[in-house]
Amino acid sequence: MPSLPLPLLLLLLWGVGSHGFPATSSGAQEQDTELVQNYLRKYYHLRTGTNRSGRQRSSSLVTEKLKQMQAFFGLKVTGKVDADTLTLMRQPRCGVPDVAPYALGERTLRWEHTHLTYRLENYTPDLPRADVDSAIDRAFQLWSNASALTFTRVFEGQADIMISFVRGDHNDNNPFGGPGNIIAHAFPPGGGIGGDVHFDEDKRWTKDFRSEYFNLYHVAAHEVGHSLGLMHDGDIESLMFSSYNYYGDNLLTQRDIDAIQALYGPSKNPIQPRERQVPQACESKLTFDAITEIRGELYFFKNRFFLRTRPFYKTGELGAITDFWVPLSRGVDAAYEVASRDEVFFFKGKASGVWGQGYPKDIYHSLGFPHTVKSIDAAVHEEETGKTYFFVASKYWRYDENTRSMDTGFPKEIAHGFPGIGKKVDAVFQERGFFYFFRGKRQYKFDPHTKRILTILNINSWFNCRNK
Ligand SMILES: *[C@@H]1O[C@H](CO)[C@@H](O)[C@H](O)[C@H]1NC(C)=O
Ligand SMILES: *[C@@H]1O[C@H](CO)[C@@H](O)[C@H](O)[C@H]1NC(C)=O
Ligand SMILES: [Zn+2]
Ligand SMILES: [Zn+2]
Repeated sequence: MPSLPLPLLLLLLWGVGSHGFPATSSGAQEQDTELVQNYLRKYYHLRTGTNRSGRQRSSSLVTEKLKQMQAFFGLKVTGKVDADTLTLMRQPRCGVPDVAPYALGERTLRWEHTHLTYRLENYTPDLPRADVDSAIDRAFQLWSNASALTFTRVFEGQADIMISFVRGDHNDNNPFGGPGNIIAHAFPPGGGIGGDVHFDEDKRWTKDFRSEYFNLYHVAAHEVGHSLGLMHDGDIESLMFSSYNYYGDNLLTQRDIDAIQALYGPSKNPIQPRERQVPQACESKLTFDAITEIRGELYFFKNRFFLRTRPFYKTGELGAITDFWVPLSRGVDAAYEVASRDEVFFFKGKASGVWGQGYPKDIYHSLGFPHTVKSIDAAVHEEETGKTYFFVASKYWRYDENTRSMDTGFPKEIAHGFPGIGKKVDAVFQERGFFYFFRGKRQYKFDPHTKRILTILNINSWFNCRNK
């Protein structure tokens, strides 16, 4: 037994304090303890001794490794197993450690030549072969576009980078399918197994976005990064972040480009990173497409994603829209909840739909908008009056949810009904009787009774951001 007996480690973890640790059954606690121990051993080289005098030292080692992990991911560094730490540890991730082995120190491995070969040894049955080829080829193109590297695909013999779909124990001392949630791994540059990429065939692979599936192009691009000598990056924005996040096809950030160019020099044909598709709760350039409360939680929609939080608790959580409503895979323009009927309405272009109720209707028949309206910028429901406000460019409409008809006398100018808000609204929601309007990087807290702006808030104010 190379590890501490479970109850002891459990004690140690509880002993070092578990403030904020969610209430769980003791079965779940044991699983968590095992998860923490395995995670730190695998990705942070935690070595737990078994002898008596070593026990004390092990407890502080666990704390130390926890701190290292929390610092790496930009979590609050507590050295304790808190909810954020556990959430992160449970995410599907790459099997490559987050810290370099001691033997390697600060040294990075790199290929001595910039023209490399790769070979795809087999295919996954999850996708047509052409889609697998395309995902792998694009993953290499991504890195050759950003650096002086060039790649040639070969179909026989030994290539620098051998790629395969394997399962379980596949004879490289890094079995898939064990505890944890590893989707793939790759080896740093070198001969033999060096540079090789293994995908877990027991995972489900896709070419686009589906929950419970992994996007092959995205995972391949990340793993090839390791094949070329890159380590994990604790910045969630980076392609080299160790947990799986689907971003859309726009993968490289400036950090990734800098990292690959530091090893191999710039591309002759430099590429610029484009704006990232995934919203980050604390980024300064954040804007939203739509915001609504749904059953007591706030959903902030951006592109194909949402950030979910509980008002006044500020625990942000990233999710993909298709996780809960497939017709919204292209994003949302506006959304609102009628809590009294437990209904949530979504809008995209001229389509409108109720969450969970099949496919969309159009805004002309269902709500009575004129055909001049092509899309809705924002919408908010006022529980008190049963009215819903729709914002379209500089105007707004008012809809009566009780009679299910548009009120007469609309549209009106936003400047008239909501003075100070400006000529266009990105998103709006209602919370405890106040309207919160979002426009660009600004947020306005508005009192609909007095028609006055109460405060101008930071756009991130609903999330727990450290560097306000
Ligand atoms: C027990 O563990 C301690 C601390 O890791 C170590 O210094 C010591 O040599 C170990 N003793 C034995 C008998 O292995
Ligand atoms: C690489 O660059 C070419 C030419 O600019 C472009 O067509 C291609 O889409 C790029 N590939 C990737 C994966 O970004
Ligand atoms: Zn990785
Ligand atoms: Zn392997």
